[in-house]
Amino acid sequence: MESVARTAALVLYLWSVFMQSSRISALGVNELLYFRIISPEEIGYIFSAAPAKDFGGTFKSFYDEIFLVPADPADGCSDMKNQDVIQGQVILVERGGCSFVQKARHVEEAGGKAVLIADNAEDNDSQYLDMVADGSTAKPSIPALFLLGRDGMMIRRSLQRQALPWAVISIPVNVSALASFPFNQPPWTLW
Ligand SMILES: *[C@@H]1O[C@H](CO)[C@@H](O)[C@H](O)[C@H]1NC(C)=O
Ligand SMILES: *[C@@H]1O[C@H](CO)[C@@H](O)[C@H](O)[C@H]1NC(C)=O
Repeated sequence: MESVARTAALVLYLWSVFMQSSRISALGVNELLYFRIISPEEIGYIFSAAPAKDFGGTFKSFYDEIFLVPADPADGCSDMKNQDVIQGQVILVERGGCSFVQKARHVEEAGGKAVLIADNAEDNDSQYLDMVADGSTAKPSIPALFLLGRDGMMIRRSLQRQALPWAVISIPVNVSALASFPFNQPPWTLW
């Protein structure tokens, strides 16, 4: 009985490693950037995001504790109504309604330090998108990262359920320094 359980555990382990490597190979692990949610605890995992291809800056420092604030409006396509809480923080917006560059510019103008743009395909947990500039607008200089739709939805849902105005995150996280990675990635992504 015990050996069956052990074999099952091993198969699950190998499967998770396989899923992890196949997911990462689409982009190359070096191209993904990681952040950790500290609070709320129920989504206290390490998330991956894909930096925009040809616009947006890189992180100049590591933020151990910074707020991740959902934009209002959620798509970030017009001036931010919650500018007072956006100032100096990382902002979560949804894909759609306007270009990636326009969203990032709105966040930058509101004083955001970086922007995470979550896919609006909430069931799509496997595809990262290369965000490219639209050519029309001046390029924003804050870091702009693409987040899987499922991850963005889980974060928003958790904040809504607990009536929290923001999450607390560390960004970027150096996963090569973490022995426990990839096991602290979101379970809905790993499996
Ligand atoms: C997931 O998103 C990618 C990129 O936007 C798209 O190419 C793919 O068709 C989507 N898959 C599903 C199942 O929606
Ligand atoms: C990330 O961690 C690895 C292993 O500890 C280290 O060699 C590397 O310099 C770190 N990278 C950064 C950017 O801190």
